[in-house]
Order: sequence, then structure tokens, then C-alpha cells
Amino acid sequence: MKRYDQIPGPKSVAVWKELGKKLSTGMSSLAYRLPIVFEKANSDILYDIDGNSYIDWDGGVLTCSTGHCNESVKEKLKIQLDNLWNIHDYPTTGKLEVINKLVKLLPQKDYAFQFYSGGSETIEAAIRAVLSFQKYKKRKILSFSEGYHGKTRGSLMAVHSIFGKRIQPDYLAAKNIPFPKCYQCPYKKNAENCDLFCAHEAVKVIRADENIGAFVFEPILGTGGIFGPPDGFWEIVQPVCKEKDILLIADEITTGAFRTGTFLAVEHFGIEPDLIAFGKGIASGFPAIVLAGEKSLMQDSDIADYLDSLNQRMGATFTTPGGSSTTFGGSPLAMAAINATLDEMSALKIGEHVCYVSKIFEEGFEDLQRKFSCITDIRIYGLLIGVSISVYPEDQNKNNKFLIQLYHECAYHGLFIKPDSNGVIHITPPLTISESNVRKSLEIFGYVLSKLL
Ligand SMILES: Cc1ncc(COP(=O)(O)O)c(C=O)c1O
Repeated sequence: MKRYDQIPGPKSVAVWKELGKKLSTGMSSLAYRLPIVFEKANSDILYDIDGNSYIDWDGGVLTCSTGHCNESVKEKLKIQLDNLWNIHDYPTTGKLEVINKLVKLLPQKDYAFQFYSGGSETIEAAIRAVLSFQKYKKRKILSFSEGYHGKTRGSLMAVHSIFGKRIQPDYLAAKNIPFPKCYQCPYKKNAENCDLFCAHEAVKVIRADENIGAFVFEPILGTGGIFGPPDGFWEIVQPVCKEKDILLIADEITTGAFRTGTFLAVEHFGIEPDLIAFGKGIASGFPAIVLAGEKSLMQDSDIADYLDSLNQRMGATFTTPGGSSTTFGGSPLAMAAINATLDEMSALKIGEHVCYVSKIFEEGFEDLQRKFSCITDIRIYGLLIGVSISVYPEDQNKNNKFLIQLYHECAYHGLFIKPDSNGVIHITPPLTISESNVRKSLEIFGYVLSKLL
């Protein structure tokens, strides 16, 4: 199998030498560990400035859903570039088109919408909406301890296990429960006969605290290692949340916009959220995220009074004028990117394609698992795939080093993969990845594993 001579190549090394000294050291550790300088991309292939190419298992951190530099999206954006770039919250026909499409894709409820440019900002807005709505005492946010919702104050506050105490907000108005994983169950139970112990434990926590106002959750953990809940978990937990007036905020930044085959991942579990923040891939790589919410949370029935009042308090709550808006959210360019992406996804029948290639990944990884005992678990939700690798089960550091070696060696063989620090390879390619590149990438992955083990 072809192997590049030097990764990163000399041009990448030269750029990195200069650039590295000028960047914040808080950036992604994977970029440090393999400082390739990328130059361009097409569909599911990345190219670096040294002329090397890689099948992309990351998809621009899950944003480039329709394939890198999708032609049809590009053409529609060019038209918008000639017309209007930003006009703040003033209505545009592009926004109306986006909303009409979203309404069809979210038939479960009559939602209202606001738009943002990043995930944390959107979660922050959802938490503001909840705090504006809930009674004063119901201000605690429940979340999963392995969840990830961003790095702003509110989104950080929701989960207090990831980041160090130094940057946590002082007021931890949050409460965490373990994510219901069957692989490495946090309660050390066996899925065969546990009777959904995790769901009953979650219910105990929920019932014990009258101050919980909202539950922010990823339907499938993304950053936390790609884990879905067991069947039946939400059937037990959701009704209790409803009974206790706990609003459900689905964080579908990762899972939304067909990543798991359906438009939203909540559809797999029968969850009907009050607010949904989605999805990294809805604008093909452009910064645009949607917040959909129950009208009672997103709209104020007294809006006419506010507008009449000379003393109106701008942004006093989420629904008073100015309370939900931002500088870039919902710009005409963002709307054009969403419109073009949704059109392309519909033309490509993207949900069906995701399910089709997902199956090929599934068969491929199962085949590899039969050959390599270090593949200890495979979790597949459309094109959100987590593969646990444990070469040194007793030594996480050593195992992580192995994963970094795998990361390097895959790059040498033309495959760009994404390991995390918990022994999981995240496979999240552009949703348009071709069948042939799925098969080719699996072949490279298997070959590299065989060489390293
Ligand atoms: C589920 C989830 N929520 C929120 C965020 C934060 O998004 P951003 O990095 O755009 O602020 C992320 C980022 O990966 C995410 O995966």
C-alpha cells in the first residue's frame, strides 16, 4: 500500500514553524500532533500544501456535510455574495425560505426560530430562553456529566466535569447525571439484565430536586465518545421531566441535519424537545446554527406593548426586543448557505445515502473487529461512528500514544482520522462520502492497524 515519505511535508513544516509561535496554545491538540497545513478540499478528500491527499473522516469537524466545497452550494452562495451580506434582524426572503423548509423537517411541533453562528452561542441562548421563562426558583440546569455543550459561561456551567475548576463559573447551578452508556456502564451493570437501572437513577435525581428548570442533553454523545442511550431510557425519563415542568433542550449541534440518517437524532428516541439547537452541518461549513423552540419560549405575547413603550428594556428577557438577536446570526449569507445545503441534501436524498454508507462502515468495522481484538466496541449512528480501541487496557496513557501513532500512520497512508483521549476513533466524514472511499478508507485503516500491532 502506498505510503507518503514525510508527513507533514517540508512546506507544512515551514509554515508551522512560523505560525506555531503565533497561535494560542489552547487550540486542538490533534493539530499540534500532526501539523499538516491543508490547502484545499473537494468532496471527501483533503489536500495539503505538500501535495498529499487524504480521505477525510472528520468532515471539517462535522460541518462540511455536503462534501467540501460542494459545487451547488458554492453557486448559490455566489449569487448571494452579489446581493446582500448582513442586514441584522431585518427580514429577508432567504430567511423565510429557510424557515419554511425547517418547518417541514420538524413536523413534531409548532416551533419558532432564531439563528446563531456557533454552537456555544446557541446553547447559551437556549439557557437564556429557559431562565427567562421558568419561575425564579427553577434555575438549575440538569445535564449529562460526559456531555459537551461549548465553552461559554452558560454552556460550561451545564457540565462541570470536563474543564478545570479555574475557568468554571463560580455559581454551579448545574446538576449532572452519568450518560447511560452500555459499554463501560457508569453503574457497572450488564445491559442484558440491568432493567434500565440508569433511567431509574436519573428519575431519582430529577424527582429529588424541585429547582431543576431544564435538562440540556446530547441525544448521542459526540465529543464524549459517541454513545447513544439504551432503548427505553427516554421512555422512562421524558415523562418525568414533563411532569416536573423540566424543559428539554436537545443539543443537536453535532447530531442534527441528517448526521445520524434522520434530520434530528431525537427522532430515534421519541424525544420531543422544547428547544433544539442544531446543527453544525446545516450550512455546509459556514457558521450558522439554528435554535428552534416552542412558541411559548421564543415569542412574547406582549410584544406590541413593548414596542409601544418608550421605556422598553432592550433584551430584558430572551423574548423582549433584542433579547435573542446577535450580530451575525441569521445573516443573508448564512441563510443562503442553509438554503443551498438543505436543497442539496434533499436532491441527494442524503438521509438514505447516510444509512447506506453507514451500513458499509458497520460491516467493515465488524470485519475488522473479528481480526483485531483491540477493537473493543463499535457504535454506529448513521455517519456518527465511534470505535473504541484498547491495546493497553491497563494503561490509558500508553493506549493514547498508540492512537496517536495510528493517527500519524493513517495520514502517511492517505487517511485523516480523529482519535480522542479516551481510546475512541471518531468517524464523522462528509455525509456525501462515496461508497468507494468508505471501502478504501476501511482498507487503509485495517492495513495500518495490522502494521502497528
Ligand atoms: C454537542 C455540542 N454542543 C455545543 C458545541 C459547541 O459549539 P461551538 O464550538 O461552535 O461553540 C459543540 C462543539 O463541538 C458540540 O459538539
